[in-house]
Amino acid sequence: MVPFFSARDVAAAVPPEVAYTAVRDAFVAHTRGEWTMQPKLYVTNYPAGDFRAMPALGAGHALLKWVTSFPGNPALGLPTVTGLVVLSNADTGMVEAILDAGSVTALRTGAAAVIAADVLGRPDAKTAAVIGAGVNGKAAAQTFVSRGRSVSIWDRDRARAAAVAAELGAEVAAGHEEALAADLLVTVTPGREILLRESSLSSGQHVSLMGADGPGKAEIAIAEIARAHVFCDEWEQASHGGELAAAVAAGAIDREDVTQLGAVLLGEAPGRRARDDITLFDSTGLAIQDLAIAIAASARADELDLVRIDL
Ligand SMILES: NC(=O)c1ccc[n+]([C@@H]2O[C@H](COP(=O)([O-])OP(=O)(O)OC[C@H]3O[C@@H](n4cnc5c(N)ncnc54)[C@H](O)[C@@H]3O)[C@@H](O)[C@H]2O)c1
Repeated sequence: MVPFFSARDVAAAVPPEVAYTAVRDAFVAHTRGEWTMQPKLYVTNYPAGDFRAMPALGAGHALLKWVTSFPGNPALGLPTVTGLVVLSNADTGMVEAILDAGSVTALRTGAAAVIAADVLGRPDAKTAAVIGAGVNGKAAAQTFVSRGRSVSIWDRDRARAAAVAAELGAEVAAGHEEALAADLLVTVTPGREILLRESSLSSGQHVSLMGADGPGKAEIAIAEIARAHVFCDEWEQASHGGELAAAVAAGAIDREDVTQLGAVLLGEAPGRRARDDITLFDSTGLAIQDLAIAIAASARADELDLVRIDL
C-alpha cells in the first residue's frame, strides 16, 4: 500500500527547520555528484501557464514531480502551483509514496530562499523581508521565522500580507519601498513585472529571487543583475528558464559570472566577497530539493494517519 501525503500531511511530516537542513544537504549532495537530476522539462500552454516534469535520483530513491505554474489561477480561486510528486525505490522501481506537489514545492522553495540569504547575506544583516505573500512567499517567511529571524511581509494584496503576517507572528512592511530596502530580501511574485529597477539595490544587500522560474518572467532589471555578485541554484536551469535567462541572452552575464549555491555550501567557491557586495540568488527550483522533502516526509509515514493507495 502506497502512502499518500496531502498538503496537510506534508506540513505535519516536515516542519520548516527540517526542510531547511534537508534542502541544504541536498544542494551539497548534488554538488558532490551523489544526487543527480536532469533540468526540468517545460510543457507550455501559454498564456494560461506551464507544466514541469522534474526527475531526480539520490539516497536510494528516485523522484518525479509533475507540477504547474498557472499565474491566472488565483483569480479563479485556484492555486498557481499544483501537481503530484511520486517517490520510488531506486533499487526496485517500486512506488514508495505519492505527495501533494504544491506543499513539497513551497517547503523547499522557502528553504532555498532562506539558505541563500543566510549563506550570502551580510553576517550583520538586521532586516529581512518577503515580497509576495502567496503560497511560496508565505513558506519563505515561515522559514525565516523558524530560524528565529523577524521578517516583514509585503504584497500588493494588503489583506493577504496582513493575514500571512498575523498567522506567522510577522510584521507587514510599512510600504513597498521599505520592503525593498531590507538587508535580506526574498521576492516571490509571479514575475510579470520588474520589482527591482536599475540602481534600486543598496550596497551590502542580498536578494533571493524566487518568483521568475520560467521563460519570460523577471523580477529584476538586467542592468541590476549586471552590477551584482550573482549566484544560482543550477546554471542550466537558471540560464534557460530563470531570472538570469534574459541577462544571458542580452550578453550582460555569462557562465563565469555566476556561482552555484552548492559550491559555496561545500566550500568550493567563495560566497560574499565584501561587506558592500550586492548578492543575488536566482532560483528556478531543483528536483533534488523536492527529493529531499519527499524523503523526509516518507520517513515519517508510519507516524501519520495517511490515506494508503493499493496501486
Ligand atoms: N524558484 C522556485 O523554486 C519557485 C517555486 C515555486 C514557485 N515559484 C514561482 O513563484 C511565483 C509565486 O508563486 P506562488 O505559488 O507563491 O504564487 P501565488 O499566486 O500564491 O502568490 C503570488 C503573490 O504575489 C503577489 N504579487 C503579485 N505581483 C506583486 C507585486 N508586483 N508586488 C507585490 N506582490 C505581488 C500576489 O498578490 C500574490 O499574493 C510564481 O511565479 C511561481 O512560478 C518559484
